[in-house]
Amino acid sequence: MEAEVKTAKVNVESAENPGMKAPEDWKPVIMGILCNWCSYAGSDLTGTSRIQYPPNIRIIRVPCSSRVDPWFIIKSLQTAADGVLISGCHPGDCHYISGNYYARRRFLVTKQLLNFIGYHENRVQFSWVSAAEGQKFAQVVAKVTEDIKKLGPLHRFKKENF
Ligand code: FES
Repeated sequence: MEAEVKTAKVNVESAENPGMKAPEDWKPVIMGILCNWCSYAGSDLTGTSRIQYPPNIRIIRVPCSSRVDPWFIIKSLQTAADGVLISGCHPGDCHYISGNYYARRRFLVTKQLLNFIGYHENRVQFSWVSAAEGQKFAQVVAKVTEDIKKLGPLHRFKKENF
């Protein structure tokens, strides 16, 4: 189940705060907020299929990607996470008809806001993963982990002593 991404060069300097360094053994923490019906089931399939993916992701299950309040993303970045992945059903497959369309719009606005206040655009990512796409889920997690490793640890607006 556990596999480290070995291709990415770990950048111990933060992309947002170049002077700030992390320990050599730093490993990124990624908050994965997944919709129950597709992406969470896809992650479950990854596990039951014994497909390996990086262990850096911490998964939170929500009923639908439209349930992801921008505050969840901000709070994740402010506390433990170096990056956030939001994943939902493919367009047209949302169990609440159009929740993922709302989520996509909200995500784009949130991402622009985060970018405006200084976060690198790759800190927060969005994907569509269905319940049958265990392999794709592993690939998405590997890519996000690799991107966050390149960006280094997140220090911007972090709560002290969390
Ligand atoms: Fe999966 Fe709405 S139920 S995105």
